[in-house]
Amino acid sequence: MCGIIGCVGREDETLDVLVHGLSKLEYRGYDSAGVALSGDRVDVCKKSGKIADLRGALESREIGGAAGIGHTRWSTHGPPTDANAHPHLDCTGDVAVVHNGIIENYQSLRDELVSAGHSFQSDTDTEVVPHLIEDALADGADHEAAVREAIAQLEGSYAVAVVLSGDDTIYAARNDSPLVLGLGEDAYYLASDVPAFRDHTDQVIYLADGEFATLHADGWHVSDVDGDEVEKTVDTVEWDPEETGKSGYDHFMLKEIHEQPRAIRQCLRGRVDELTGSVDIGDLGDLSPTGVQFVACGTSYHAALYGAQLLRDAGIPAQTFLASEYATAPPPIGDALVVGVTQSGETADTLSALREARKRGARTMTVTNTVGSTAARECDHALYIRAGPEIGVAASKTFASQLTALNLFSLGTTRTSDSREIIGALRDLPSNIQAILDESNAEAVAETYVDSGAYFFIGRGLQYPVALEGALKMKEITYKHAEGFAAGELKHGPLALVTDDTPVFAVVTGDGEMARKTIGNVKEVEARDAPVVAVTDGQSDVERYADAVLEVPETHPQAAAMLANVQLQLVSYHVADKLGRSIDKPRNLAKSVTVE
Ligand code: F6R
Repeated sequence: MCGIIGCVGREDETLDVLVHGLSKLEYRGYDSAGVALSGDRVDVCKKSGKIADLRGALESREIGGAAGIGHTRWSTHGPPTDANAHPHLDCTGDVAVVHNGIIENYQSLRDELVSAGHSFQSDTDTEVVPHLIEDALADGADHEAAVREAIAQLEGSYAVAVVLSGDDTIYAARNDSPLVLGLGEDAYYLASDVPAFRDHTDQVIYLADGEFATLHADGWHVSDVDGDEVEKTVDTVEWDPEETGKSGYDHFMLKEIHEQPRAIRQCLRGRVDELTGSVDIGDLGDLSPTGVQFVACGTSYHAALYGAQLLRDAGIPAQTFLASEYATAPPPIGDALVVGVTQSGETADTLSALREARKRGARTMTVTNTVGSTAARECDHALYIRAGPEIGVAASKTFASQLTALNLFSLGTTRTSDSREIIGALRDLPSNIQAILDESNAEAVAETYVDSGAYFFIGRGLQYPVALEGALKMKEITYKHAEGFAAGELKHGPLALVTDDTPVFAVVTGDGEMARKTIGNVKEVEARDAPVVAVTDGQSDVERYADAVLEVPETHPQAAAMLANVQLQLVSYHVADKLGRSIDKPRNLAKSVTVE
């Protein structure tokens, strides 16, 4: 998704700060990038392609100024060309604008502007903004009033930042798209996401919808739509800048897979008491919902499936909905809670489902990684997963932390007789995951099956979401066909796809009825000559039917799913690596999907 960075107050370094900030936003996914700096005039440089292409274009340019804005674009209106890259200018070249989100009424605004004589250079919705500002300036408005007037005409979602020639101020506004200010010692920053300026400051202010900010070398100011001052809280970011580096790993994703033991420890810290078998999740423990509806997308949806299963096992009716389909869901019953699982806290589909739930009168909660995110601010309650920043576009450690947090939620809101065993298993998760990371043969399995035509993943109960997640990871980062199925469903259709060129990854832990039934499905696969890769703790005899085995330590069933997932993450990573894929930034994907 698009990213925004802005900086004012470091005249000699503004450009470097912007380009460095853009490189920190690369993880969100993008296809073009650009910067604008304001001095006596506004200088713009923008390029389709990577930040390296922008750096190349900047080498031949003399460009500087006290206030600057930069942008990474992920195309929504028009292809990734230089012309469609942000910043966009008005007809005079005095106003430069970057924008995240979608302006829904852009076509009518554009038609009016074109009939009034404005000339457009791009296919984007964003370009209406500088032209609207130009019109307001021509009518005599001062800079701030002109930007406000333009913003007031926009419908849809936006985080907008503007610089104007002869003015070392950044003007910014947000609606439904994140924007955060950074307060440095000698400079001020703004960005769509903290990593963009975290190297310069840990003091941040999260803007809310409808707020308008001005940043100047001498200070900052936040006001509401009417121009009245808004008192803002300054928050301190708790993670280190190094957490956003690769620390010697070839890819962020591999680093983040290896960070899972630490992420889980952070999630558990201060929240569990193994002796008493109790969990302390603060006020969330008193929610006592009569039922829970989960809404989420992608990997977070798989975490939600797992969470709903935990609650059902503990006697609470729980359902899971794809956030984008929530409009068709039955209304929450009684004192139900609607829980949005979203690591970013900014996913448009999930935010929209949570808003729909509030309209239907439900209490809402988010399970999120991002303090200050829209989901955290809009929901009645928030459970933080504390995974630290995740840069790889494909979610890895945040999934592990979501499952951990959902275990805490289930234990904290229900009475489960084996809570002490579960807490013990959660406590052992970091060392069990570490053992897998140290000893996994996933790379050898990847080597064996790297040229396969497709990959299938099967599991039952809590292993079903893990099978779905295994397939999602495989397709996202390898670009190969992969599907996850409930093990019992295979024979109802998908079995027709199974051949000797389609390895089937079967997640089988424990030796109970579920395991026995999945082994029955494994035999069906084996009989069709498909290679079987068993992900198992060795308690059953699934290994007899497997061509390869990925071992996980024996533990409580709720934790076993999380261990199996690590092996599947590693297989996908190594297949993608052998295929030379862009693992941290897979094609067409974005880290935070802020459009519906
Ligand atoms: C997959 C992935 C996506 C996200 C989905 C929801 O690896 O990262 O499927 O899980 O876009 O994102 P959040 O959790 O930020 O709401």
